[in-house]
Amino acid sequence: MDQLFYIKTFGCQMNVHDSDTISQILLNKGYKQTDSIKDAHIVLINTCTVRNKAEQKALTLIGRVASLKRKRPDMISGIIGCVAQEKGTNLLKHFPSVDLVLGPRNIYRIDDFLAKIKEGRGRTSSLDLTWEPASFPNFNGYLKGRVTSFVKIMEGCDNFCSYCIVPFVRGRETSLPAKEIINKSNYLISQGIQEITLIGQNVNSYNTKNGALPTFPGLLKKLNSIAGLQRLRFTTSHPKDLSDELIDSFGELKSLCLHIHLPVQSGSDNILRLMNRGYTRDKYISLIERIKKTRPDITITSDLIVGFPGETEKDFEDSLQLIERIEFDNLFSFKYSERPRTKALQLPGKLGEKEKQKRLSVLQERQREITLSKNRLLEGTIQEILVEGLSKKRDGQLTGRTLGNKVVNFFAVKNLKGHLVRVKIVKGFQNSLLGELVDKCN
Ligand code: SAH
Ligand code: SF4
Ligand code: F3S
Repeated sequence: MDQLFYIKTFGCQMNVHDSDTISQILLNKGYKQTDSIKDAHIVLINTCTVRNKAEQKALTLIGRVASLKRKRPDMISGIIGCVAQEKGTNLLKHFPSVDLVLGPRNIYRIDDFLAKIKEGRGRTSSLDLTWEPASFPNFNGYLKGRVTSFVKIMEGCDNFCSYCIVPFVRGRETSLPAKEIINKSNYLISQGIQEITLIGQNVNSYNTKNGALPTFPGLLKKLNSIAGLQRLRFTTSHPKDLSDELIDSFGELKSLCLHIHLPVQSGSDNILRLMNRGYTRDKYISLIERIKKTRPDITITSDLIVGFPGETEKDFEDSLQLIERIEFDNLFSFKYSERPRTKALQLPGKLGEKEKQKRLSVLQERQREITLSKNRLLEGTIQEILVEGLSKKRDGQLTGRTLGNKVVNFFAVKNLKGHLVRVKIVKGFQNSLLGELVDKCN
């Protein structure tokens, strides 16, 4: 009988990519994937712990799996990812029904761990943070039907922003060899992938720590010259490592899409210093000006935290004023959440939940207006879209993204999936654009 596995993924693009990797490893070993947790012989939860709420979500699902397992004791359950790394063997203690606990750097041997459990050799955990990230296994059709794919270029983070748990659960920054990234990209393109997004916690410091070449702009150049690659994206960049050479790439590389996600985190110098971000407000603004000068049509998005310890009304005003000045196309904003082992835990001036919520609501309200007006500005323009398939939310419409990473839905009589098309924007909404097909580009 087929062994069915189910995998639920929380968290960022790194976890999404890790879950894809796990799925492919298991498919290669003859397992089959299911979308139904109830039918699964193996249930895997890939967890996120970046904020307390994310952790709670994972723990709730772990509880549900535990009760499922009481009814089906032969089921194998595994907790993977950042909560697994953080809580480690405590998860095995607190949840007697959990069989496997794997940190994010330990996923590449998941089949060995499952085999061990199946042979009755006991529950197991693997939490080594020094393991090198391995490359994605062979696909054997896993990505079939997809037009876009992530490619991991580095693992871990050395920045230790004072609020952030990621360096503790993902380990030290490690860059994958360029040769491997290029081989992988070539392979993906041969399988029909047209858009690649390079991912890492801090992609623009690629290879700087180990002194190897190419550095990040050089890597982009190499990938840009691959025949058949239509589009190249990357995320996330850190402002402190954003070089002029990288900014210039936006004007020079034909496949590089016109979007940069550049988390600012706060508009106040005092808070930026306490956050250990390594740049000032003015430095950030000058980077944005340099980017806009190079490509006035680029989309700029960011992350921002409100209610960091010690954040005064004035500091918050500085953040508000910064988002009004820069006018981000989109902003992901969060209430500060205390995380274990981080430096900010010890800082004085913690804010209450109510105050943090109030600040978040004010900020998000203002950003909603900015986002909507930016999307409306595109009305009447012609945009190039890579068609990713049918829209899940809008019946009968095709969906894709602009070079600036904005979602566009439009009607077409033919399924144009995988084609680059030109679309006229007829309406800008909060989270997407409505377009009308003009013609195909290729
Ligand atoms: N390396 C990436 C991703 C970090 S996690 C980066 O630096 O952008 C994504 C976002 O979560 C961060 O940018 C930050 O805005 C937010 N975040 C991280 N830790 C947080 C915390 N303790 N409380 C609230 N938001 C947090
Ligand atoms: Fe966290 Fe900062 Fe590293 Fe991003 S750069 S993962 S926010 S420590
Ligand atoms: Fe979450 Fe881990 Fe990503 S904590 S944000 S899944 S790196």
